[in-house]
Order: sequence, then C-alpha cells, then structure tokens
Amino acid sequence: MPVLVNGRATGLDPLDRGLQYGDGLFETIAVHDGRARFLEAHLERLAEGARRLALPSPDPERLSGQIAAAWPDGRGVVKLVWTRGPAGRGYRPPLSPEPTCIAAGFAWPEWPASAWSEGVRVRYCRTRLGSNPVLAGIKHLNRLEQVLARAEWDDEHIAEGLMLDTMGQVISGTQSNLFAVVAGRLATPALDQCGVAGVMRRAVCGWAADLGNQVAECGLRPEALETASEIFVTNALIGAWPVRELAGRQLPPGPLAAGFNAWLAERT
Ligand SMILES: Cc1ncc(COP(=O)(O)O)c(C=O)c1O
Repeated sequence: MPVLVNGRATGLDPLDRGLQYGDGLFETIAVHDGRARFLEAHLERLAEGARRLALPSPDPERLSGQIAAAWPDGRGVVKLVWTRGPAGRGYRPPLSPEPTCIAAGFAWPEWPASAWSEGVRVRYCRTRLGSNPVLAGIKHLNRLEQVLARAEWDDEHIAEGLMLDTMGQVISGTQSNLFAVVAGRLATPALDQCGVAGVMRRAVCGWAADLGNQVAECGLRPEALETASEIFVTNALIGAWPVRELAGRQLPPGPLAAGFNAWLAERT
C-alpha cells in the first residue's frame, strides 16, 4: 500500500491538525487503468470543502500528480487527505498553515457480482446525524457518526446502514448516498443540513437529467421508503447498488440502478 505524505514516503507529523482535530478533508477515488474516475468532481468537492473550512486551496495539478503516484496503473483506490497541517496545541487555526497532503493507494475491493445484479441488504442505524449547514455536503475528516453507525452491525450479509438526522429524515448510508423512486419520482435526500454530497450522487443526478428526469432533492422519511418501488445506494467505488431488502422489506432490483450502472460501465 503506497502512502505518500506531501509526495514523499515519509512519516506524518503527530501534531498534524488532521490527526489532532479532524481539521481537514478527504476524497476516496476510484482508479481505472491508472486514470482517476470523476477526478474533476472530486477536486471540485475538495476545493469547496477547503473554501468552507478556510483551508489553503489545494493545487489541482499537484493533487493529480500525487493521485497518479499513489496508484499509477490498473485498478485501485486512492484516498486523498488534505489537512491544515501541523501546529501547536489549541483549536485556533495557525495564521500561516502548511497543509499536509496524504495520498494512499489501495487494491480494488472485491465485492460479489450479486451486489449489482441482485442487490444488497440494508438496515437502519440508531446513530443519528447532527445538523450543521456549514459542514453539510463537504467530505470533512470528522466521521465519528459514521464510525459509530458502522459499529452497530457485524452481519456480513448486511451491506449498508441508513442514517437519519435528529428530525427523523433519512439522509444517507454510512458510506453512500441514497436514491428512491417514490410515487413514480426519483428522489434523493436533501443535504443542506448534513450528509456528504457524493461524487456518484452527482453523476446519477446528471445522468437522470440528461434523460429528462430531474431528481427531486427533498426530505425522505422511513415511511416514504416503505412505499418506494426502487431504492439504491451509491458511492464513488460501487456506482449504484440496488437495495433488495430494507429492514426486512423485500424489493426487486429496479431499472434505474441497472441503467445507471450500464452508463457508468461505458465510461470506465
Ligand atoms: C457519509 C458518506 N456519504 C456519501 C458517500 C458517497 O460519496 P462518494 O459518491 O463521493 O463516494 C460517502 C462515501 O464514502 C460517505 O462516506
């Protein structure tokens, strides 16, 4: 597993604010034939996150070089971390931060083909997502809610857990975005209070819009999901996994996830 810190295979400063406070951002990027998929969207989200956290903006060319160095050939995953860098004790951000860039390459995870053809089983998590519009949408390093939620089950037959906000709206999976066809309309939870605006979510919305289907970004309650004719979850690595069972309710794999995955396969 190649790990580069600021382009070099050296250690990380233990006083890095990414480690001390989660003061930073990350991206998980699929690499196919040595090319980062949806690179522009990943870099745009990172730039938006840097703007919101008032972090120095990463140079896209430098980042692209580090992604390529972390996984130069074939199929793999690059996790890119961008932090405010090392500093002394205390929350106050340094006046002249020296950001840290970590690029780590990983082998492509092997999932059973049935996750796409037949779908996956999904449950609800008890851990709720707190609301904070300043952090909503960006992929910041503070992921304790997802860590607690993912610790709620160890049944390997359950692929994902859905998380609600404190108002009882369904927001996303622990590591994925959610789509559902409710009353004939493709919908995805609004992410103005919490959640991560996924790169694959953005791709699904663009794909649907090109077909003349505007995805509704709205509040979605568990009761609405009980009436859904199709549900799927997305992220940058998996594309779209149809949900074949949600909290014990069976669903047939639907046409939209299959259509989107076919479109994705053509451009990968
Ligand atoms: C909490 C959360 N939401 C959504 C996503 C999906 O984002 P993306 O499509 O960029 O992978 C992820 C991905 O890891 C995630 O961790």
